[in-house]
Amino acid sequence: MNILIRNASQLVTCAGSHLPRAGTTQSEIGLICDGSVLISGEKIVFAGTESELTAFLSAEKPEIDIEYDAENKVVMPGFVDSHTHFVFAGSREDEYEMRLAGKSYQEIADSGGGIWSTVMRVRNSSEDELAIASLRRLEKFLLYGTTTLEGKSGYGLDAGNELKMLRVLNLLSRENPFGMDIVPTFLGAHSVPKEISKADYIELLCSELIPEVAGEKLAHYIDIFIEEGYYDTSDAERILGKGREYGLTPRTHIDQFNSIGGTQTCLDHGAVSLDHLEVMTDADIDLLRSHNANAERKTTAGLLPGVSYFLGIPYAPARKLIDAGVPVLIATDFNPGSSMSENMQMMMSLASTQMKMSAEEIITSVTVNPAYSLGMEDRIGSIEPGKQADLLIFDIPSYKYIIYNFGVNNLECVIKRGRPFKINEFAPLTNQ
Ligand code: NIG
Ligand code: FE
Repeated sequence: MNILIRNASQLVTCAGSHLPRAGTTQSEIGLICDGSVLISGEKIVFAGTESELTAFLSAEKPEIDIEYDAENKVVMPGFVDSHTHFVFAGSREDEYEMRLAGKSYQEIADSGGGIWSTVMRVRNSSEDELAIASLRRLEKFLLYGTTTLEGKSGYGLDAGNELKMLRVLNLLSRENPFGMDIVPTFLGAHSVPKEISKADYIELLCSELIPEVAGEKLAHYIDIFIEEGYYDTSDAERILGKGREYGLTPRTHIDQFNSIGGTQTCLDHGAVSLDHLEVMTDADIDLLRSHNANAERKTTAGLLPGVSYFLGIPYAPARKLIDAGVPVLIATDFNPGSSMSENMQMMMSLASTQMKMSAEEIITSVTVNPAYSLGMEDRIGSIEPGKQADLLIFDIPSYKYIIYNFGVNNLECVIKRGRPFKINEFAPLTNQ
């Protein structure tokens, strides 16, 4: 099927050779006014101005199946959410209320809540049950504009259940009704299970699980929660070192509540993204900056403002990171305990009001930069000929409106792999 989108008042392509976007280039969004996009099958074959389109159409004479008039609308790349925990069972709204009553995330975890309570529910769920619950969440991600997402294991915390979570992620990645791209990450080191010692669990991760995950190609990435009461840098040395031996690339949780040296350890092991960073120190920002100065592949700073909002903890130092030339990305960290929202537009609003990022910096943070961190920049993250047709049509006059008109969804249509999904259709309930 060929779809022609024309007359967009703003076509935000995010095209350009600076990858990832960092420092001043973090604001490069490749804006075309009066823009058009031609999609053929799953791919973009043309993106440019109306006058360039006229020339293209008369030279190529493509058949057009659907013509979409995007006058007074904004077209941009689909959101890439590079940090989520969307496979889980149950929910934890009771904890949310405990937190409002004054208990901290850690106090709740110590009293039997937190990650462990989700682990119990995941262990009691079948693969099918997990897949069905997760599919419903995928639909919500899409509804707010996410077209690619990463998803982590980490609520199994034993061999069988970690593998079960990864199998669900892989099943959904191979097949889901939206054609959504899903990237599985192995987060066996999310917390320490209650039934065995930490030393024994780390031994299990290193001698059994990592070889199996890599051998069966269940994940390309490995993650760890480096935090007081969870895993320290010497645990990370072992786990990430073993992961690397088996070809698993780190993307990690660091500096969420306490800064305990995760930056250096993760960089030493080739981490592609350092995520959270709510309490990252100036010295660690400098470490990341100087690491990137000499690195061929840059390490991104993955900021998760939904967590700060939901838990009431500090926001990550986005301005300092951007000013230091570190490529920044924004993700939802969607999970039942610290950020229960699939909505990337909400994260964009928080990045603006709470982290003082500009609209342009925010746009590259949810498109090209996370695509780069997932090693998918050749395929997704921007609107360019040859790339996958993952794009969003917003019924708004300018891209700045996404964060300005906060808390509502102005998305009109999501196109995923060339397939259009109509959003926000307001229709009366009929008797069917
Ligand atoms: O990214 N910090 C560790 N993991 C998640 C929270 C998981 C949970 O509470 O269930 C996070 O915030
Ligand atoms: Fe997380």
